[in-house]
Amino acid sequence: MEEKKRIFSGMQPSGMITLGNYLGAMKNWTALQNDYDCLYCIVDMHAITVRQDPVKLRKQAKDLLTQYLAVGLDPEKNTIYYQSHVSQHAELGWILNCYTYMGEMNRMTQFKDKAAKHADNINTGLYTYPVLMAADILLYQTDLVPVGEDQRQHLEITRDIAGRFNTIYGDTFKIPEAYIGKVGARVMALQEPTKKMSKSDENKNNTIILMDEPAVIMNKIKRAVTDSEDEVRFSEDKPGISNLLGIYSACTGKTIAEAEKEFAGAGYGTFKTAVGEAVVANLEPIQQRVRDLEKNKDYLDEVIKKGAERASKLAERTLSKVQKRVGFLPKVR
Ligand code: TRP
Repeated sequence: MEEKKRIFSGMQPSGMITLGNYLGAMKNWTALQNDYDCLYCIVDMHAITVRQDPVKLRKQAKDLLTQYLAVGLDPEKNTIYYQSHVSQHAELGWILNCYTYMGEMNRMTQFKDKAAKHADNINTGLYTYPVLMAADILLYQTDLVPVGEDQRQHLEITRDIAGRFNTIYGDTFKIPEAYIGKVGARVMALQEPTKKMSKSDENKNNTIILMDEPAVIMNKIKRAVTDSEDEVRFSEDKPGISNLLGIYSACTGKTIAEAEKEFAGAGYGTFKTAVGEAVVANLEPIQQRVRDLEKNKDYLDEVIKKGAERASKLAERTLSKVQKRVGFLPKVR
């Protein structure tokens, strides 16, 4: 039997999970779990590159785990764990720092964006963030990484670092590729539909939180920025309506063209109500499962313990090989 290809992805517990995270990533992950060997890491170590309140960070990391399970990721089929529980990430991250050039990091556009946004805390962790991400991926001999546009550059640098290491020391890392499959919807901010919906957005009306109550969801969609026409049509110059069409399509499985036809001549009010209802219909069952899971602390603990054990075992294989290649002495046992 041919072995399944390995997929690795991570998500930061740096805020509350949004509809964008769900439709753009998590919803598709559940479709991969039978055909691939998947690791879904909750990257709390990446999260602290921006200042986090410890109490909130713990809550967000827990919520993210619960929500992974609630959307349908099966912990028997996938390895789900907290990055900080698997120390090999930090260890390989350090080593890879020594095989990455400042010139390469200086080109990272996300660093520039984040440095501008957090001018009071431009720490070196933020700077070397892509190296830790490379370690995440390379530790598991990952074949495929499902990444959005904003993470492409980080995957490229991961490939460069891996290739460089392999050239110096011989084949050590598998060179990962971007997973191009059914791409998730790119959900934009409701009030500023030219920028991505983000869990760290300060404007609460820009985001729909996975756990938002139905009335809140309906209200946020109703207030979403549109345009002065009254035509439900997908177009670059209609970012607000196009975004809502994308959300509707992702929630209902209908194509954009079908949706346009459905709402021809209907007016924005009717359309927005339908979008809101479609979102609610998607999120309500997930919210119910979250509430059920939260009552079952023992089960959640078990999932996270097993996940870390499994990940750690896999990671150690790669790490020990790397340590040997760079010239570290083996531990005396
Ligand atoms: N940087 C990614 C993001 O913010 C999260 C991440 C960390 C990740 N490590 C990863 C994604 C490894 C894919 C693979 O979206």
